[in-house]
Amino acid sequence: MQKYFHIKTYGCQMNVHESEKIAGILTDLGYEECAEIENADIAVFNTCCIRENAENHAFGNIGMLKKLKLQKRDMIIAVGGCLTQQMGKADGLHEKFPYVDIIFGTHNLHKLKEYILLKQSAKKPVIKIEEDSGFIPEGDKPFRTSYPNAWVNITYGCNNFCSYCIVPYVRGRERSRKSQNIISEAQSLISDGYKEITLLGQNVNSYGNGSDDLSFPELLKSVASIDGKFRLRFMTSHPKDFSEELAKTMSENPKICRCLHLPVQSGSDAVLKAMNRKYTVKEYLDKIDILKKYMPNCAVTTDLIVGFPGETEEDFLQTMELVKKVNYASAFTFVYSKREGTVASRMPNQIPEEVSKDRIMRLVELVNSLTRGHSSKYIGQTVEILCEGFDEKKQMYLGRDEYGRMGYFAGTAEDLGCFVNVKIKKANGVSLIGEKV
Ligand code: 5AD
Ligand code: SF4
Repeated sequence: MQKYFHIKTYGCQMNVHESEKIAGILTDLGYEECAEIENADIAVFNTCCIRENAENHAFGNIGMLKKLKLQKRDMIIAVGGCLTQQMGKADGLHEKFPYVDIIFGTHNLHKLKEYILLKQSAKKPVIKIEEDSGFIPEGDKPFRTSYPNAWVNITYGCNNFCSYCIVPYVRGRERSRKSQNIISEAQSLISDGYKEITLLGQNVNSYGNGSDDLSFPELLKSVASIDGKFRLRFMTSHPKDFSEELAKTMSENPKICRCLHLPVQSGSDAVLKAMNRKYTVKEYLDKIDILKKYMPNCAVTTDLIVGFPGETEEDFLQTMELVKKVNYASAFTFVYSKREGTVASRMPNQIPEEVSKDRIMRLVELVNSLTRGHSSKYIGQTVEILCEGFDEKKQMYLGRDEYGRMGYFAGTAEDLGCFVNVKIKKANGVSLIGEKV
């Protein structure tokens, strides 16, 4: 009888790709994906702990499964990812949700098959959390779900220890995959028909640091030189490691998309220092100037945090100023979330919730107005969109242009995975709406 799996993913693209790896393991075991968790023989929660709300979301969903597990005693429930990797969290999770069968962390995802077989032969829950051993997974066979885009890990972990961030504690030290392995993975994806490769890492700019392998710009150049029409993206970049060589490499290789996600976090030097970001506002703006020197039209996006401990109204206004100055194409905006074990969690002057809420509302309004400004410039222009899906609500096909902007158009299923020229007629916030030409 066919058995089914269902995976719930929380958090970033890194987790989305890791869920593809989990799906690969389950497919290998003979399971097939199903849309509803109620029909699953194995349910996997791939969790995130970067902010409290991501954590609460996962806890809430795991809690809701208790009833289902009582009805389907043979169903296997597995919980993995960043949340379980946090010190002491696996035991707490087991106490709170004793019906969870398997708990694993970020460093042993590749052993999930072994844990499932172990659980099937033993009655006891399997709780396995491993420490960072510098291990670099190779040879996994992800069950990819994002055609025509394919995610490719280039680095794992992070050494930056931004004072608010839990990632270095749950993902371990930064390590880079060998460039040959990355290039051959990209080559086989392109020959399999993928049209967009996104290189993934917490800080892709420091790829290869401390080794005699390629630098990040050299790696980009090598991947971009693979034959065929495709786009190359990467995320995320740390401003301190963004170099002129990278800007030059981007400008010289048309396959590399004209967009850069460069998280600034704050526009105040005092806050940046307390965040341990290792750059000043001036240094950040100098890097934007370098980027624009090589690619004046490059779209710049960012991440911003409000309500960091000690952030004054003046600091916040400096963030607003910086956002206007850079004129970001779009931005992810976050309210600071206190994460146990980080340096910032021990700082005095935690900001009251109502102050942070007021600041985020003002910031979101500003970001939205800039985004609308960028969108309005598109009207009347023809852009090349890589069609990646169908939007049920809008009943239109969708995809992004090389600047990363989402466009919608009336198309056909044949457009999926193709580059389509679309003349933009209307802009609706971040989304562009047009017609095929
Ligand atoms: N609180 C709020 N936002 C955070 N980020 C990371 N840690 C936190 C936190 N504790 C944000 C940063 C980062 C993005 C991935 O998540 O802006 O760039
Ligand atoms: Fe977290 Fe900073 Fe590393 Fe990004 S660079 S993952 S924000 S510690």
